[in-house]
Amino acid sequence: MAAPNKVQIPALLDLTIDNITPNTVKINSQSGDRRLTYLMERLVTHIHDFARETRLSTDEWMAAIQFLVQCGQISSEVRQEFILLSDILGLSLLVDSINHPKPPNTTEGSVLGPFHTHDAPTLDHGANMSSDPKGEPLLCICTVKDSNGKPVEGVKVDIWETDSSGHYDVQHSDRNEPTERCVMASDGNGDFWFKCILPVSYPIPHDGPVGKLLGKLNRHPWRPAHLHFMFEKSGWDHLITALYIRGDPYETSDAVFGVKKSLIVEPQKIDSATAKQYGVPEGSWILKHDFVLTTDKETEDLRDKLAIGALKKLGLNLTLIDHLPVPDLD
Ligand code: BEZ
Ligand code: FE
Repeated sequence: MAAPNKVQIPALLDLTIDNITPNTVKINSQSGDRRLTYLMERLVTHIHDFARETRLSTDEWMAAIQFLVQCGQISSEVRQEFILLSDILGLSLLVDSINHPKPPNTTEGSVLGPFHTHDAPTLDHGANMSSDPKGEPLLCICTVKDSNGKPVEGVKVDIWETDSSGHYDVQHSDRNEPTERCVMASDGNGDFWFKCILPVSYPIPHDGPVGKLLGKLNRHPWRPAHLHFMFEKSGWDHLITALYIRGDPYETSDAVFGVKKSLIVEPQKIDSATAKQYGVPEGSWILKHDFVLTTDKETEDLRDKLAIGALKKLGLNLTLIDHLPVPDLD
């Protein structure tokens, strides 16, 4: 634990609408951890201002507490209601965009969602990661390159999607092994290729408190058809992204705000020669896509630059420590 600093705590008596905020901030400022102190100061200030500005009623406050309790009660290893909440509030996308800014012409990130698992089988190039006979077969031929167009070898690529009914394997109570997911590595040319099924649109889990909230807000729970990807290699910025199928009815109204124009793709019908070459049925779909990774250094430099610019715009005197802003010591 960091050593407490010498914050003078006034007697906490007779707190009012007008003095509760600075006093709460003060008592939270004793850890000696500058970043924690700053985060708590901002959190308390914003949440108190929210209550003051909206004149939050006791009933509304209690309903919000009940809502959070219900989110906790429905959550489990495989049901992550707080991630869903963060997703539908746009917070997941915002945090990813702040932490993984992308230079032009590199692959943008998208939401992770709650359905990535760590038990996907490692498959060879060309393997079929789907066992769903009802899905439309799709062959994906991809490359991983750096921002100068040089292939990146040995990148661990995690890929996952729903079955043709729009459910991830973990949503089936009788799941006994991972399906519609795999891990593979890019080869010396930066290539990897695999067989899967054409993704379909599906609703995010909406039988819990987050679904109820969407209903109250007159929002639908649907995500446009997509294939998830996660790229990992030491020295390279961890990329979590997805490819979205052009023309999906939910392309412009994703319940979790994950779609970016640069991530929309258009699979084509495969020609006979290519179908034969890759051993996929005639009439399959084919998708070719080039992913572009950034190095940790490229991302870190851009993140610092954007942070400094954003703080300056807000007129704040802050310093970056470990790439994260804290107030200047005066
Ligand atoms: C998904 O794409 O898997 C997902 C993302 C956010 C919420 C629910 C699901
Ligand atoms: Fe998904």
